[in-house]
Amino acid sequence: MTDLTHRTAIVTGGATLLAHGVVGALVKAGANVVVADIDEPGGAAAEKIGKNVVFVKTDITDDAAIRAMVDTAVQRFGGVDIVVNLAAIYLDEGFASPRADWLTALNVNVVSMVEVVRAAYPHLKASKHAAIVNFTSISSKVAQTGRWLYPTSKAAIAQLTRSMAMDFAPDGIRVNSVSPGWTWSKIMDTLTHGNRAKTDAVAAPFHLTGRVGDGAEVGNVVAFLVSDDASVVTGADWAADGGYSAMGPEQAAPAIPKLMD
Ligand SMILES: NC(=O)c1ccc[n+]([C@@H]2O[C@H](COP(=O)([O-])OP(=O)(O)OC[C@H]3O[C@@H](n4cnc5c(N)ncnc54)[C@H](O)[C@@H]3O)[C@@H](O)[C@H]2O)c1
Repeated sequence: MTDLTHRTAIVTGGATLLAHGVVGALVKAGANVVVADIDEPGGAAAEKIGKNVVFVKTDITDDAAIRAMVDTAVQRFGGVDIVVNLAAIYLDEGFASPRADWLTALNVNVVSMVEVVRAAYPHLKASKHAAIVNFTSISSKVAQTGRWLYPTSKAAIAQLTRSMAMDFAPDGIRVNSVSPGWTWSKIMDTLTHGNRAKTDAVAAPFHLTGRVGDGAEVGNVVAFLVSDDASVVTGADWAADGGYSAMGPEQAAPAIPKLMD
């Protein structure tokens, strides 16, 4: 079983539904978790996941707030071993997006990951078990109608992960990314009024599993990647996508027979 006992993780965006699964997986493995998010009710809910979960209200575009959050983690738990960069925004009007929206999207989704790592870096360097996981997405590799900012930011994160992995390797800090497929999350809960069956039916044609994933399932992959069990893994992007990326445009239904219809 994945063992993260005596380790401390920072999870940005840890207040949202999907992230609760990630926080839960880290807690199950024995980690202390600091949830860094702007969403206070979601942060309070995350604190209920385990005794060793602390919410620190943090806007990750604010460097002083990031430093204060890292200081709190160190004061409370004695160090930082793990950073999970999960926070993101979906601000995206495709080609219609003005420059300001591009800068906001890239600032939250990409640049803030670097600044969180910069603040945690001395503590990661001091840890014997340091690991970073950055959240990218299936959206990093495919075109999606009307979406330019979010997929571009997620593609940048896949590259950022490789750059971080290379330059932090001498410090013993492993860096990987996860690419979830459709995962049961706040937006799906809101749009379908909690209808998981409907969500699964929409997702089924483009996920081999025939359903959306759960935050806890993605969390299990994150917990593995930050654990010593993944000591040989760095600079990699891990699909946690129910087979979405294994499927081509023909999807899982035989296409040749359609020629005979
Ligand atoms: N939901 C999916 O199906 C899916 C699929 C692939 C990848 N992902 C990735 O998983 C992660 C979570 O996605 P989600 O759908 O749960 O998103 P979400 O919008 O529900 O959650 C994002 C979280 O980030 C926080 N956040 C936003 N701006 C912030 C800021 N400036 N400072 C601190 N926190 C901030 C929000 O408050 C929220 O709690 C994202 O990185 C997303 O790209 C999600």
